[in-house]
Amino acid sequence: MEKRIISTELTEEDVKIESNLRPQLLADYIGQAKAKENLKVYIEAAKARQEPLDHVLFYGPPGLGKTTLAGIIANEMGVNMKITSGPAIEKPGEIAAVLNNLQEGDVLFVDEIHRLNRQVEEVLYPAMEDFAIDVMIGKGASARSIRLDLPKFTLVGATTRAGLLTAPLRDRFGVVHRLEFYTPKELKTIIMRSAGVLGVSIEEEGAMELARRSRGTPRLANRLLKRVRDFAQVKYDGVITKEVAVFALDLLEVDRLGLDNSDRLILTTMIHKFQGGPVGLDTLAAAIGEDAGTLEDVYEPYLIMNGFLKRTPRGRQVTELAYTHLGLPVTK
Ligand code: ADE
Repeated sequence: MEKRIISTELTEEDVKIESNLRPQLLADYIGQAKAKENLKVYIEAAKARQEPLDHVLFYGPPGLGKTTLAGIIANEMGVNMKITSGPAIEKPGEIAAVLNNLQEGDVLFVDEIHRLNRQVEEVLYPAMEDFAIDVMIGKGASARSIRLDLPKFTLVGATTRAGLLTAPLRDRFGVVHRLEFYTPKELKTIIMRSAGVLGVSIEEEGAMELARRSRGTPRLANRLLKRVRDFAQVKYDGVITKEVAVFALDLLEVDRLGLDNSDRLILTTMIHKFQGGPVGLDTLAAAIGEDAGTLEDVYEPYLIMNGFLKRTPRGRQVTELAYTHLGLPVTK
């Protein structure tokens, strides 16, 4: 599959942009009202008890603020955050070292936590539950296990695939939140805020156009803001008006409803090769040359939420809206 213009994966540039644009405190965080309200209470209560916050799990499509919220938790609790990820930790000894180096109260953020292997995960169970790890010393008949106490900490796990988490791991999180797509209005507020941080001039209507086409995702909104700013600078007088936003986003092939080439490829493949469906996830993934998990977690949620696609017991099916949006005659 061709490279997505607006890939939802984090690039090096994004890491730089995001670290500038990320809100540092709950009060500056826009959207995810439910998660925000709840976290505010839990943080206040934990602080009053002078205890670390319970372990937190965030799940949902990429780019919706899981890492940002982990950072905010650390800031609000007044502690440090250590960052790692499921695929980065291969051996039990590695996670043991990470845990052992934490300071009292620290937040340990584990991105893609569903990708931890079983042995590593098993070290986490007593660590999360009793703030202790069991270390084996010696070999053969004289081998024994000793318990090592850890500082109290908060594990913040993030995953795009909550369904892949094992039950024992999932059960050890006291707080579990699904992050939702942002409304265009929320994204507009985020874009206006980001433009302020970046020193970009933007009109409200320009921000709204960007917001509508950002796939409900702040990471995309901020990335598109930077691209559109370039057009404003070179082709116009530096201000992002609605006209500039429409011009630039059309050129970037992000359509009026925020669908990009990959989204359209998924829908047109379903229509042209599978008569609109139903078609099984694996078959569809093979047809577009994408991994089934990525298709399910990254592309589908937005298409489903916006009514272009639906899941049926016999597979995925496009809706009438998909035909009309693509300007194709409804053939079934
Ligand atoms: N930048 C990225 N995500 C944000 C959010 N949810 N609120 C404010 N600024 C953001």
